Amino acid sequence: MLSKALHPHKYFWPQSDLRENSQWKFIKNKNIYEMTLPEDTEILAKDSRWPAFFPAPMCFVTTAFEGNQALEKVVGASIVNRFPYVLALSFCKKELSDRHYCRQQFTETLERSQGISVQYLPIGNSLNRVMNAISSTLENKTFKRLEKSGLTTREGITNASPVFEDAYMVYEGRLAKPGKDFDGKPIFEKPWLDAGSHRVYFFEINLIQLRQDIAKGQSQICWQSLPTWKPSTTSQGSIKSSPKPDLGVRYQKGYTPHYKFPSLGTIAFEADTTENGMAIKHLPPLPEDQVEVDNDRARWPCFFPSSVGMITSWTRERTPNLMPCGSTTIISRNPFIITPCVSYAAINERYSPRKTLGILRESGKFGCGIPYIDETVIDAIRYAGNISLSGDPKKVANAGLPIEDSEWAPICSSLPIHFDCKVVDEIRLGTHIMFIGEVLKIRVRADVTVQNCLEWVPWPEVRNNRV
Ligand SMILES: Cc1cc2nc3c(=O)[nH]c(=O)nc-3n(C[C@H](O)[C@H](O)[C@H](O)COP(=O)(O)O)c2cc1C
Repeated sequence: MLSKALHPHKYFWPQSDLRENSQWKFIKNKNIYEMTLPEDTEILAKDSRWPAFFPAPMCFVTTAFEGNQALEKVVGASIVNRFPYVLALSFCKKELSDRHYCRQQFTETLERSQGISVQYLPIGNSLNRVMNAISSTLENKTFKRLEKSGLTTREGITNASPVFEDAYMVYEGRLAKPGKDFDGKPIFEKPWLDAGSHRVYFFEINLIQLRQDIAKGQSQICWQSLPTWKPSTTSQGSIKSSPKPDLGVRYQKGYTPHYKFPSLGTIAFEADTTENGMAIKHLPPLPEDQVEVDNDRARWPCFFPSSVGMITSWTRERTPNLMPCGSTTIISRNPFIITPCVSYAAINERYSPRKTLGILRESGKFGCGIPYIDETVIDAIRYAGNISLSGDPKKVANAGLPIEDSEWAPICSSLPIHFDCKVVDEIRLGTHIMFIGEVLKIRVRADVTVQNCLEWVPWPEVRNNRV
């Protein structure tokens, strides 16, 4: 359940009637709306909001060079690789509209400094002040934003980016350096990727700060990782399930959209030191020193907000596959690009090459469904996210979601939104491959309406455990 404090931060989609937008075509026999992408630049100039909803979290990012301190908010920050531990942040580099304009001053500063600090503020006054400081200060006055927020900061530990005294969680990172993955292949020859209207920067995380009361378990970070929505018609498609294989003692990744950190189901935050009321964890500089073969220890070292994309694909034999993918985000507005990050490294059961990897490479196509809070959907995430198509050729049917036989990629027709994506590139990151998926078509169920919208909160929240 969302706390009342989060209510003002709710985001609803759609915000206007799809029937009033000529880009959406109603397909009567399927009872869906469809939009073909990319849009014309004139259309984008008028309104460049994302064409459909994707559950992206938000964060604040600071950087500093030669005494100039810059502050931005970023939508869709995502952990994209495990060893090294890499965070991707995407910034607009092309003028599309009033909303999507070049983040010149911020990106120049970060390219010079090479360091950033990604931060989370408690819901309420401090978060609102920073949001207001950002929205009321033009990009070319980025250096004025911190002062305008009125919040106090201190210097980061591994780089000079300012850290808000009020932040409860801070990720310090530096632009990824060229290196080699476990197969000896080069990674990060460049620490960024130009993708359409945006530049995606890859940061190696070298330190995490977590407020001590959270590290000790006296307070918890609460995160609702999926939107809520209520279908009002039953979906088309069929489920042909057969007895599910026994997962036995295999490693299983648990999943709940109501995530609490730390809790019995999560790792504990293993701090090296404490400073300024924060528990501090350093991440070793070399990925080989970070590798933990033990499944549990290979988990992320701390909470980072993410959602799930339901990545669907057809094998060459036209068997459907479904891979829930937490490291899925949007990195560009034009073209609209979705990037699932799929494990290719053979480290342990948690990080092993996915069947999906070969399928996406061979077909060059995938679908991305947007899940929501619903028992059947959550069960499907747990099932399909723990068993490979190689272990269960009827994985999709057994996951329990109906599938519509669509040419490009299988459609989980009970999900509200589905994107058809074309693989235009892939980036090797160390343990994961980032697939660059240009969205060609979006499909929205007709029962997704302004009155029956998806509801999403892009911020996590800290709650005191004793209340
Ligand atoms: C919530 C959740 C998120 C996941 N996120 C990822 C991810 O980002 N990348 C990845 O490679 N695997 C991820 N997985 C694991 C894959 O979904 C899982 O290994 C799946 O069985 C792969 O299927 P395949 O071998 O048929 O491709 C996730 C699993 C769950 C339950």
